[in-house]
Formats: sequence, C-alpha cells, structure tokens
Amino acid sequence: MPALKIHHIGYLVKKTDAAILSFIKLGYKVVQDTVYDDIRKVNICFLQKDGYLIELVSPASEDSVVAGLLKRYKNTPYHICYETEHFDEDYRALTASGFIAIDTPTPAPALQNRDVVFLTSPAVGMIELLRHTISEP
Ligand code: NI
Repeated sequence: MPALKIHHIGYLVKKTDAAILSFIKLGYKVVQDTVYDDIRKVNICFLQKDGYLIELVSPASEDSVVAGLLKRYKNTPYHICYETEHFDEDYRALTASGFIAIDTPTPAPALQNRDVVFLTSPAVGMIELLRHTISEP
C-alpha cells in the first residue's frame, strides 16, 4: 500500500489577496508568498495554522485549470495533497486501484518544481500526489 503523507489542503479562492486578509483574521500566517504557476495559470500561496498547511489557489486567467471549478464551487477547499517518497510507484498503484489521473505528472513552480499529478475517484473526489524530492534515487 502507498505510504502517503498529507502535505496540504488545496483551497480554491476567487481573489488571493482578499482571501489572505480574511485567513489572517482567523489566525493563519502566510508561510509562502504568492507564486504564479504559468503551467496551470493560477496564483498560489501557502498559509499555516495549527500545523495545517493550506494552499490558496486562484485562477489568473479565464483559461486557468481552476476557472471552471471556481464558477461551480466558489470559495472552497477542493483537494487534499499527499506527499510520497515513492511517487511513480504510488501513482501506478492509485491508478491501478480506481483513481483516474486528470492530468500528467508536471512540475509545480509553487512547490520547488516538484512533480504533482491530480487524480480523482468517484467516492473521494480530487486528490493531488506530490513527489517528496526533486529526483529519486
Ligand atoms: Ni495542491
């Protein structure tokens, strides 16, 4: 079985700056300033509270990968990201066990260009898998 570790909760927001101000009022701290992901056309920043890492994701343009999701769901948590030291193996295991990849492993500029891939399952919804290190031995 895969040894997956929860890395962050992805939180969709319409406007990053406005969301940051409100999260700060709730006691969150910004731990990584906003980074533009030009592959997915989203702005991403990381907040932390009580040991939880929250990733704010907002569309930077109409053709952003999350533009449609935001229209449908508004501001909402929408994925849990799992970090693994065995990315390729776990990716294979998950897809073999019913999770469906909705993109292909691609570097994430907001996460030190480590590979991420998004998968979905009818019973769980969307998850993200994150490579623990940039290159695996
Ligand atoms: Ni994420």
